[in-house]
Amino acid sequence: MENNHDSQYSLRKEISEKADIVKIISQYVTLEKKGANYIGLCPFHDDKNPSMSVSPSKHIFKCFSCNAGGDSITFLSKIKNISQLQAMREIAETLGINVPITKKEVEQQKNKKYYQIMADATQFFHFFLKNTEDGKDAISYLQKRKLSNEIIDHFNIGLSPKNNELYDILSNQHHHLPLDMLEVAIIKSGNDYYDTFKNRIMFPLKDLDGNYVGFSGRIYQQSDEAKYINTPDTIIFKKGNILYNYSDSVQAIRNKDCVYLFEGFMDVIASYRAGVTNAVASMGTALTNEQIIAIHRLTNNVIVCYDNDGPGIEATKRAINMLLSHKMNVKTVRIPDGKDPDEYIFKNGEEALNKVLTTQTISAMEYLYQLEKVHLVLTDVNEIESFKNKIFSYLPMFQSNLVVETYIKKMANDIQISYDALISDYKNVVSTKIDYPQEYNNKNNNSYDNNLNNQPVVIKQPKSKKKYLKSERKLIVASYNEQEKCLYIENQLENNFVDKINREILFKIRMYYQKHNQMIDQEFQQALSEDEWRVLREILEDEEIPNGSEIEILINNVKEWPYVKAANQEALSENKTIEGINRLSSYKKAITRIKKGDV
Ligand code: CTP
Ligand code: MN
Repeated sequence: MENNHDSQYSLRKEISEKADIVKIISQYVTLEKKGANYIGLCPFHDDKNPSMSVSPSKHIFKCFSCNAGGDSITFLSKIKNISQLQAMREIAETLGINVPITKKEVEQQKNKKYYQIMADATQFFHFFLKNTEDGKDAISYLQKRKLSNEIIDHFNIGLSPKNNELYDILSNQHHHLPLDMLEVAIIKSGNDYYDTFKNRIMFPLKDLDGNYVGFSGRIYQQSDEAKYINTPDTIIFKKGNILYNYSDSVQAIRNKDCVYLFEGFMDVIASYRAGVTNAVASMGTALTNEQIIAIHRLTNNVIVCYDNDGPGIEATKRAINMLLSHKMNVKTVRIPDGKDPDEYIFKNGEEALNKVLTTQTISAMEYLYQLEKVHLVLTDVNEIESFKNKIFSYLPMFQSNLVVETYIKKMANDIQISYDALISDYKNVVSTKIDYPQEYNNKNNNSYDNNLNNQPVVIKQPKSKKKYLKSERKLIVASYNEQEKCLYIENQLENNFVDKINREILFKIRMYYQKHNQMIDQEFQQALSEDEWRVLREILEDEEIPNGSEIEILINNVKEWPYVKAANQEALSENKTIEGINRLSSYKKAITRIKKGDV
């Protein structure tokens, strides 16, 4: 693996250096020679004066206005909107260099037969819906929900038959093998083979690249069965990795530079009917880092529009927190009438939903503020205090003095307290607050309630930060050296980190690898501040590349750090309370859990 990567890296370098960057860019932009370089109008923004410079000696281009830059491969992939690898292949071909097939391509090739099974099943369900007696009943259900023929076709909605017809068709007509069908869970086995989905309206699900990988099937007649059943996780389907409608809305999301995030696919369909096509759904599961990373590839701006009920509101708070920690701009829309966009469009029509989605967006902090303010009772000082604390707890997520000041002002006004008094309260809270690990905050306190009797806790000297810092630095080296490791590490780390600047660097490496397959120093440097670049250089010089099994330990170390840090603060605190000792013991338990890999 290491070898493979090394050769890939040097291959890219070779292609990049041998390619005639001036010639390649000249196919799209008129270049004019200026000294050793060339200049031209930048094609990546609306350029009036030539602000793109091409350096044939360094083999790079750079726009001084919009900051686009990189080598000829990056240029080609950007301008043709193709992957880096594809661009690399195209250029390599003109140079007579052979680019071997990558692991991802091998994987795609291997999964091809499974994608085909799912595509054939999708086509059959769609046909069955539109051309059979059973289908009529299902179509009338869909019509009652105001889904037109055009919508049924666009989303490839279908119907699964009652009597294993799918299995017959897939084996007899399409010659798929039962074992392959079992692998993608489209059939089950017992004494014989059976269709997994029976008599349900079928919504096909695609992966991020647009391959058919799974289904969600909904009941449409009286039934005690679950409303939806979904394909379980298979080698091609991971529910937490996909977003409904993602591959079909890539262009719309890029064009609008923003995406609507819904809870259910019926909401995506509703928003499509309302003319809002930059929409995806997380399909009822808690939003995952993988999904956020996928969104981040297309845009920085997310509008969360989850159900307007208890669970939906909780899910929104969680999504806001996660999206902010990925440094995205977050807005929300609260559907005024009904649980979700689908109910809203049913009652109020397409134009009304369009209007809500496009004009009723509010910032995430405004959403949280309004949410809490509803419960505010101005005559009860305890209520005011608890409102205040709630808002205080949200503000740090935004990492913005502007947001803090704006909302402290607003709150001062709403609870009729002076701004100065409130901001000084806030500063007190923020500075004395023990930085409790996130997981600990989310749980209720039961985990440590009875602990005191169980085990005595010895308060030791605070642990040094050194080991944890070192771990983080090594992870930076591993991430920097390999795209695949970088993505893995970022996923495992979630939002844990030891040092802020390191966190920033790791984050930027991840962002870089999302768009590029290979690391190119000069290009990456442009994304870093001077400080970050200096720290990164130091780390790359000082630390060795960790191997696979070492990486697991390093990740655990970084995950332990928030608990160690909180335990340190607890151990250092002047007056030791029972609660404090209990907390300390719960941190230790958490650390043991992480060490065991039990998280
Ligand atoms: N979901 C699921 N299994 C369930 C219920 C829901 O997988 N038993 C997922 C589905 O992907 C659905 C999403 O969670 O799209 C949101 O659930 P819900 O709000 O209950 O569905 P609606 O979109 O309101 O669906 P409908 O209008 O058809 O009832
Ligand atoms: Mn609904």
